[in-house]
Amino acid sequence: MKAAVTIRQGGPEVIELKEVPKPDVKPGWVLINVKAFGLNRSEIFTRRGDSPGVEFPRIQGIECVGIVEEDPSSKYGKGQQVAAVMGGMGRFFDGGYAEYALVPLEIVFPFESSLQWDILGAIPEMFQTVSGSLNQALEIQSGETLLIRGGTSSIGMLACQLAKSKGLQVVSTTRNPDKKQSLIENGSDHVVIDKGQVKDQVRALFPDGVNKVLELIGTQTLKDSLKCIAPKGTVCMTGILGNEWTIKEFTPMGDIPSLGRLTVYMGESKNLSKELLQEFIDDVAKGNIKLNIDNVFTLDQVVEAHQYMENNKAKGKIVVLT
Ligand SMILES: NC(=O)c1ccc[n+]([C@@H]2O[C@H](COP(=O)([O-])OP(=O)(O)OC[C@H]3O[C@@H](n4cnc5c(N)ncnc54)[C@H](OP(=O)(O)O)[C@@H]3O)[C@@H](O)[C@H]2O)c1
Repeated sequence: MKAAVTIRQGGPEVIELKEVPKPDVKPGWVLINVKAFGLNRSEIFTRRGDSPGVEFPRIQGIECVGIVEEDPSSKYGKGQQVAAVMGGMGRFFDGGYAEYALVPLEIVFPFESSLQWDILGAIPEMFQTVSGSLNQALEIQSGETLLIRGGTSSIGMLACQLAKSKGLQVVSTTRNPDKKQSLIENGSDHVVIDKGQVKDQVRALFPDGVNKVLELIGTQTLKDSLKCIAPKGTVCMTGILGNEWTIKEFTPMGDIPSLGRLTVYMGESKNLSKELLQEFIDDVAKGNIKLNIDNVFTLDQVVEAHQYMENNKAKGKIVVLT
């Protein structure tokens, strides 16, 4: 089979299109004929050698969609449409950047859809992350206010749509004023230009602060995001677009406002269910959710696709078709 193999840690050029053996099926694992996969920021970290425990060469890809080629457990018949996500995929065992992927049964989610594969490929990880962050970590409720820090990211764009569909008011941030209009068109009620500090702009809109913050930039902006919350408000750090893992100085009684809440979301396949996934796919098919797919590449263009993601050229999800 053809696979985009990360041969060693490094820049996008360490990913090479190769002919490799199709994986042998084994009990408890499902062989998927991969049709498409989304690219994820974490795959840049892995490629650079920053994901602990990952050995090279490795076929990366923490998610994929496709059809079942073989399932020794007989749970899924040949041809069943499935998504696979997380669970060590593309890190501790080979992942989605290939024509076939062998993955554990427990990270496989069946679905039925006539949507095109490039659309389906955008969904699993993005939906799992947004749904888990908003519903499980932030427990969003109708009537609340939500600040999305890193609003133009694919996670941020989908989070805005899901929050709007639940009746929240949304403030999205971007560093780039040129992206303001696309955030408004995506449903944001307000857009704030982020130069590292947005507290004053957010409090000008909502003097008491916002109820919830989805923090996608990470440690660089976390303290400022905590300054944006209303009493008993919650900040959930889900992303690390700013590329810094630790905060050098953090004073809990000081940086977290009294009664404020700070949580993180590190989603896993267990945070997803086949029912939730199917419901979301159906919503996309009905046009209730508009996926922001920025660009679609092919398997032999994965190097280009990684470069594109790393250069922040995308205004939404990047998908690769096999
Ligand atoms: N916890 C989880 O389970 C989970 C799962 C999936 C993804 N994530 C994380 O969620 C975040 C968003 O992922 P994504 O795939 O949606 O990202 P993405 O679409 O690639 O995000 C691109 C946007 O991020 C912003 N950005 C890039 N570098 C930045 C920096 N240094 N400082 C501030 N903003 C920066 C840019 O926005 P502007 O130019 O408009 O400012 C850019 O348009 C990532 O950190 C990812 O690792 C977490």
